[in-house]
Amino acid sequence: MGMEDLRARFLEGMSRAATFVAVATTDGDGGRAGVTLSSLTSVSADGDQPSLLACIHNQSPAAAAILKNRAFCANLLAEDQQALSDLFAGRGGNYHAARFARADWSAGALGQPILAGATAVFECRLATALLWETHHIIVGRVHAVRLSDQPAALLYGQRAYRRAVHLPGHEV
Ligand SMILES: Cc1cc2nc3c(=O)[nH]c(=O)nc-3n(C[C@H](O)[C@H](O)[C@H](O)COP(=O)(O)O)c2cc1C
Repeated sequence: MGMEDLRARFLEGMSRAATFVAVATTDGDGGRAGVTLSSLTSVSADGDQPSLLACIHNQSPAAAAILKNRAFCANLLAEDQQALSDLFAGRGGNYHAARFARADWSAGALGQPILAGATAVFECRLATALLWETHHIIVGRVHAVRLSDQPAALLYGQRAYRRAVHLPGHEV
């Protein structure tokens, strides 16, 4: 399999993995920045504190800002927040300060931007980071979790926004 074909098949394969959508936000000496992510993943609930990771492109201003600020929020978007996802993905302008001007947010306990309406917000301090080829794998220690009363998260799969539907036959 040629490398171009391998890359295309990798992208197609991963596009079939529907994921939730988060916006990583950060503020401090390294600047205020935010970026839309499908790579947010829980690492552990049972360490000294819970931890999570995100993979952010090394050319994203958000990655440099998180590494400098050593803190960030992972804002898990609610099902009705597609527009916020597009905003922080740079669809409509790639200027990071403008993203915050168009979003409703407030500073959390660590001084990190909390996006209004997010279904869950994980306030993190940077624990460690690894540059793997193009992306920083950023691990955060979770200091606080805010939960909204809207538990349905926005999903992204097969290159479109989606929502989870309940399958019949397995009642909860
Ligand atoms: C649904 C969705 C998921 C994304 N997931 C990631 C991701 O996990 N990591 C990443 O570096 N960029 C991801 N991106 C791309 C960034 O949001 C952004 O478009 C890109 O980094 C360029 O803008 P920047 O100035 O914020 O870096 C995603 C975009 C979308 C729409």
